[in-house]
Amino acid sequence: MTNAFSGAQPFDLVIRNADVVTASDRFQTDIGVSDGVIVALGRRLGPGKREVDATGLLAMPGGVDGHCHLDQPMPDGLRMADDFFTGTRAAVCGGTTTVIPFAAQEKGGSLRAAVEDYHRRANGRAVVDYGFHLIVADPTEKVLREELPELIQEGYTSFKIYMTYDDLKLSDREILEVLSVAREHGALVMVHAENSDCIAWLTDKLVGQGRIAPKFHGLARPAAVEREATHRAITFAELVDVPILIVHVSGKDAIGQIRWAQGRGMPILAETCPQYLYLTADDMGHPGDDGYAGAKCVCSPPPRDSDNQEAVWKALKQGVFSVFSSDHAPFNYDDPQGKKPGGNAQSFEHIPNGIPGIETRLPLLFDGVRQGRLSLHKFVELTSYRPARLYGLYPRKGTIAIGADADIVLWDPDARVQITNDALHHAVDYTPYEGREVTGWPVHCFSRGEQLVANRQYLEPTPGRGQFLPADAPSLV
Ligand code: URP
Ligand code: ZN
Ligand code: ZN
Repeated sequence: MTNAFSGAQPFDLVIRNADVVTASDRFQTDIGVSDGVIVALGRRLGPGKREVDATGLLAMPGGVDGHCHLDQPMPDGLRMADDFFTGTRAAVCGGTTTVIPFAAQEKGGSLRAAVEDYHRRANGRAVVDYGFHLIVADPTEKVLREELPELIQEGYTSFKIYMTYDDLKLSDREILEVLSVAREHGALVMVHAENSDCIAWLTDKLVGQGRIAPKFHGLARPAAVEREATHRAITFAELVDVPILIVHVSGKDAIGQIRWAQGRGMPILAETCPQYLYLTADDMGHPGDDGYAGAKCVCSPPPRDSDNQEAVWKALKQGVFSVFSSDHAPFNYDDPQGKKPGGNAQSFEHIPNGIPGIETRLPLLFDGVRQGRLSLHKFVELTSYRPARLYGLYPRKGTIAIGADADIVLWDPDARVQITNDALHHAVDYTPYEGREVTGWPVHCFSRGEQLVANRQYLEPTPGRGQFLPADAPSLV
């Protein structure tokens, strides 16, 4: 065999006959990997110490999940089921090779201390690489003038703020202060946009009427509440003149606000998640065996209806959204520290918000590709390339190119898979997608050249092999 690499050392790994799809290109190639990095792309590459034949499969960059919650400290009585080990294990089995969960400040606490604590939680546990977003819950002078600027400098270049939840929400004035710091230091703010007072008022009314079943969660958080907060967040971004990212957008009202801002040339970015494509408010009304199973689909903003699902698909295709994330929030269903705080069915206001989805994120969206709703390139753009760019990890992550980490996922585009919780790798006792059939599944997954999944089997790599990734400045395009 003669080519530029003849006579050289064998590669650590060669993936042969790959049909590579990136956000912009598609080409047939062998992929040569050494020291965890892609070092050669070309036909008939020289030998590898290991070789994998990718004939008939698609080779795509590993997914980057830019919004997931793992082992996040919770208020008393609640606990997340997934830590960095089980969460990243599930991630890679679903084709995601980089995760970015949240180091969350407590009100009255230090942001720096939250980051140090979160490193302790991740250390020795993660099986894929990870970065951290920050959650700014208490923007004191010290946080705004010292901690945040220093942390941005150190590679924590994105942070989330909340407009709702008593233990996390910021006042309008505080939001303006945080946005100003982001502008000055070049960070990206992610906004959870729902109007807190409206939710509290609606909740009190519903509970006062005895309407406490899980399905009433949706009535306490109608689209108007999300629409108003989305518009308010956009207004704040306009006043401060800074980009923001509206996270977990649920449907057409909020999309309308985002389109309006984008149409005016404002740098308003947006994220959506599988629950807004595949669940509806009716799923929160399913009684199940114990009359309470709707709690499995309680998240905020809540899933809406089929019209809204269509609006989200359309906006994904048209480029309104930059990223597609899981918002994996792993609470067990049958657990006194999960969806049934204290051990019994609860009024909807006490159900912890959020649903699991770190492993199913990519297969669910890929199924949309197979249904003709999105192109393969758009799929890679939304799930890997754009999150890598926005969160300062590109070009190490988010593409298949020489010099990039060999985070490569080989997909069988024709595999028909029925999603069942038994076959998933998270530590949560349910999936909201139980029984749903999808076409396409990741069959071989590599992280920095190490194969972690083969033929859909998890290979039990050493926990702790995942590395922390300090982030560069966000790249918005
Ligand atoms: O309901 C949700 N989305 N829970 C997770 C936390 C968040 O706000 O993203
Ligand atoms: Zn949120
Ligand atoms: Zn979230």
